Amino acid sequence: MGCGWGSNLNYLHQRGVKRAHGITLSTAQQEWTESRGLPGIKAIVCDYAKYEPEEKYDAIQSIEMIDHLCSPAQSREGKAIEIYRSYFERLASWVKPGAYFGFQAILRNRVPRRRQDLEDLAFTADVIFPGGLNPRLEELVAAVNPYWEIIDLRTQRESYLKTTAEWLRRLRLHETEIRQRWGNQVYEDYDRYLSICVRAFSNHWSSDVQMKLRRI
Ligand SMILES: C[S@@+](CC[C@H](N)C(=O)[O-])C[C@H]1O[C@@H](n2cnc3c(N)ncnc32)[C@H](O)[C@@H]1O
Repeated sequence: MGCGWGSNLNYLHQRGVKRAHGITLSTAQQEWTESRGLPGIKAIVCDYAKYEPEEKYDAIQSIEMIDHLCSPAQSREGKAIEIYRSYFERLASWVKPGAYFGFQAILRNRVPRRRQDLEDLAFTADVIFPGGLNPRLEELVAAVNPYWEIIDLRTQRESYLKTTAEWLRRLRLHETEIRQRWGNQVYEDYDRYLSICVRAFSNHWSSDVQMKLRRI
């Protein structure tokens, strides 16, 4: 669910999964995923809220997709849990009883006190992920009920700190090429964005959660 460019589908195929579907809103992602020509792997462009699978799935994975569902305005209106719950309900309707769901999301956590830090987080929300919002852990725990049992839950703040620091290092290694091919603004926005991510994970403004869920 929210398959991006299909790397996880590729990984599942390599690990012996015979058939897997990726759902995305992006035609470019669908084409890229299907261009690998992996037997049994299909990408579908569809809003999750309208998707009806042809048959029930054995399992689902969703990595960093839920942050696109609730806007900051909806969260301020107190609608976040309701929106996340309808996502968990809908995905539960796609699977067989007892199916597993591997879920991952970046979380928002502590609120910084300095104005510059708040402005940096607003830049991430407004420029890099407009309209999106990272959920809070307690909202997700409330929203999985009554559809999914939480079998395992772990946070990965330190791993994501390492990951985003590595992405920033590699971005800077390719600075000249990125500026030439995509322009200065793209380079500078992503340098700023990833630098903010590193500070956000270091300072507990953000975290990341992985949940192993089982359909009740
Ligand atoms: C941040 S990307 C994450 C991609 C991938 N899972 C990864 O971790 O690299 C979010 C993905 O969710 C998809 N997505 C967002 N909202 C969606 C919706 N309402 N219905 C279907 N897909 C959606 C986007 O098209 C994109 O593929």
